Amino acid sequence: MTETPDLDDAVTPHVPRRRTSKLAIVGAGAVGSTMAYAALMRGAARTVALYDINKAKVQAEALDLGHGIQFMPMAQVVGSDDIAVCADADVVMFTAGAKQKPGQTRLDLAEATISLVRKVLPAVVEVAPDATYVMVTNPVDVVTYASLRISGLPPSRLFGSGTVLDSSRLRYLIARETGVAVQNVHAYVAGEHGDSELPLWSSASIGAVPLLEWNGLGGRGGALTSEVRERIAREVVDSAYQIIEGKGATNYAVALAGSRIIEAVLNDESRILPVSSLLDDYYGISDVCLSVPAVVGAKGVEDRLAVPMSADELAGLRRSAEAVKDVARQFGF
Ligand SMILES: NC(=O)c1ccc[n+]([C@@H]2O[C@H](COP(=O)([O-])OP(=O)(O)OC[C@H]3O[C@@H](n4cnc5c(N)ncnc54)[C@H](O)[C@@H]3O)[C@@H](O)[C@H]2O)c1
Repeated sequence: MTETPDLDDAVTPHVPRRRTSKLAIVGAGAVGSTMAYAALMRGAARTVALYDINKAKVQAEALDLGHGIQFMPMAQVVGSDDIAVCADADVVMFTAGAKQKPGQTRLDLAEATISLVRKVLPAVVEVAPDATYVMVTNPVDVVTYASLRISGLPPSRLFGSGTVLDSSRLRYLIARETGVAVQNVHAYVAGEHGDSELPLWSSASIGAVPLLEWNGLGGRGGALTSEVRERIAREVVDSAYQIIEGKGATNYAVALAGSRIIEAVLNDESRILPVSSLLDDYYGISDVCLSVPAVVGAKGVEDRLAVPMSADELAGLRRSAEAVKDVARQFGF
């Protein structure tokens, strides 16, 4: 009688059986705890660990999420003010932020955030040395650059959530304008996650139609003229301010965008996402963390796409790179 081969071993004989995946989230505030919820709902990781200096808050968030596991894909949730809770994570999402105090400028805030990263990140890397690190805390491009320098991690394994959220806002607005499903809109926001970001209109498409050739569908809006595109681009930048003014924080869409990144890494998807990574001669742009469409998989950021750009877009990307470098320089990076 012949022995039945183990199916897993037969298909992937060289790959050892994988242990379950662990996601650690640093900072259990509005963004961190919603990201945990989104990742759990999507079954992104088998263990979700929350770490925060606010012990009561992190324990309460973990307990509340844990009570919902019965209704989600199977998982375990733990929360602690002890960094050891992050041990052996496969992915670490860094959402801990310094709260803006009255009278504090954005630059002051960046300074406080960088000193927070200086204190917390090395300790997390010590307990989770093999993880892929995704920075979310703002100003994310500068924080990502500083974090690379502080941690010494390879740029493929530490990057920022970048304009994944901004691109989903862009697609939402294009879908609303044209009356087609958001899933059929393909468009990226590149550059800084902030005021100098820019939509890459010349490579965008709706279904198989180049966006710049879109003439509308009967009764579903018209062409995306330069006025319409400018309005949409402005709305993408302003939407975070609008949401923060209305409810104090943005949390749902950023959490879903974050979960998308986590899944791309944990499932080794080679997914194209506009994350913020250290550029090295990308159209001549180097030594700055900036978002451009990149391939994200188990090794983190594996490649960047040489997206065809108009002269205006390229100039905009270069301006954005300078804006981010300017801020980084002010902090000695
Ligand atoms: N990149 C993006 O797309 C994006 C989108 C939304 C928000 N953000 C940023 O995410 C960050 C968090 O936003 P939020 O609304 O969740 O803020 P929040 O104030 O609700 O949460 C921040 C959490 O960090 C914790 N924290 C502070 N210092 C800590 C430390 N030393 N160690 C561990 N935890 C610590 C706080 O206790 C708090 O729970 C902000 O910087 C925000 O600007 C980024």
